[in-house]
Amino acid sequence: MPNLFDPIQLGSIKTSNRVFMAPLTRGRADKNAVPTELMIEYYTQRATAGLIISEATGISRQGLGWINAPGIWNDAQIEGWKPIIKAVHDKGGKIVCQLWHMGRLVHSSITGEQPVAPSPSTAPRYIHTYEGKKPYEEARALRADELPAIVADYAKAAQNAIKAGFDGVQIHAANGYLIDEFLRDGTNHRSDQYGGSPENRMRFLREVTQAVINAVGAERVGVRLSPNGEVQGTVDSNPETVFVPAAKMLQDLGVAWLELREWKENSDFEFAEETDQPILSPKIRKVFTNPLILNQNYTAEEAKEAVASGHADGISFGRPFIANPDLVHRIKNNITWQKSEIKTWYGIEYGPKGYTDYPFAS
Ligand SMILES: Cc1cc2nc3c(=O)[nH]c(=O)nc-3n(C[C@H](O)[C@H](O)[C@H](O)COP(=O)(O)O)c2cc1C
Repeated sequence: MPNLFDPIQLGSIKTSNRVFMAPLTRGRADKNAVPTELMIEYYTQRATAGLIISEATGISRQGLGWINAPGIWNDAQIEGWKPIIKAVHDKGGKIVCQLWHMGRLVHSSITGEQPVAPSPSTAPRYIHTYEGKKPYEEARALRADELPAIVADYAKAAQNAIKAGFDGVQIHAANGYLIDEFLRDGTNHRSDQYGGSPENRMRFLREVTQAVINAVGAERVGVRLSPNGEVQGTVDSNPETVFVPAAKMLQDLGVAWLELREWKENSDFEFAEETDQPILSPKIRKVFTNPLILNQNYTAEEAKEAVASGHADGISFGRPFIANPDLVHRIKNNITWQKSEIKTWYGIEYGPKGYTDYPFAS
């Protein structure tokens, strides 16, 4: 029976356990999307995770509209990541880079251009900009002839990530960002080969994944999906019809691991809508046979059970890793988890507060 503390091979990456750190945007990079020194300490503190999936990292200026989030499209950003990755490796950890294009969830004051999406639409609620909180702007529909350049940005970003020393990359295809906007029919109303049928809506994900695989090798590529429920205004009318075939397609492409962020019964995530759409991981498990990582609101007991029962090969933890840098040790020794303070989740102005000052258990 597999155990949460057993090693596992994710493509070319051998992890020391199956307690993974989920991607967590923390907003501690500089205004040019270059990682700061503070991030070295933060990631190093969490190096005992079997695998760290980095915070979402912009593949281009067009795709990055989160203030003080890092990027990986230029040399200064590559150089900024290098000491972070080296420090994690020196502690025996593994780290992959989550590749991010935010689609409609950006603001022109940050990217310098109107947001782009599969179809014209405006995200609900507000975005934080360097000039304060603003409503989202209407996104324009991408022309099909613009897509190859974005696909190439993903491939270049993946190469840059490997250059910086990352052990691999994870394509962010979840949470209402660009790829997810293509996958789901709530945000994709196209009538060309990128819209309509599930197969057409999966086309952009397939092209991005294939290009990233060609750039760095399938053994270093993972993907994240959020198959059920509404996230940041993006929703699908019948998720099973698109996400199960998408998982099968990713298996056929040879993707090394798949991470699912699923809304489940006891989820208490503050920023996702409750849903009665079924969890799809049991069906996805049947078509995606490489390692499957599950996420959202797992307790230590549920994580152990999910791995032992074969429901998942590993569990990723988000908020618990914010407040518990030593989460692996705590799970192993039944030590209570600290709770994170939402106020300091994002924001370079908080510096180390709520970032690198959560105590380790003695
Ligand atoms: C502060 C914060 C930042 C997040 N940033 C990202 C991100 O950059 N990429 C991503 O895919 N998900 C992101 N998420 C979602 C988490 O990876 C995770 O799915 C969510 O926290 C639920 O898992 P948990 O219940 O273990 O916290 C973020 C969540 C939080 C709380």
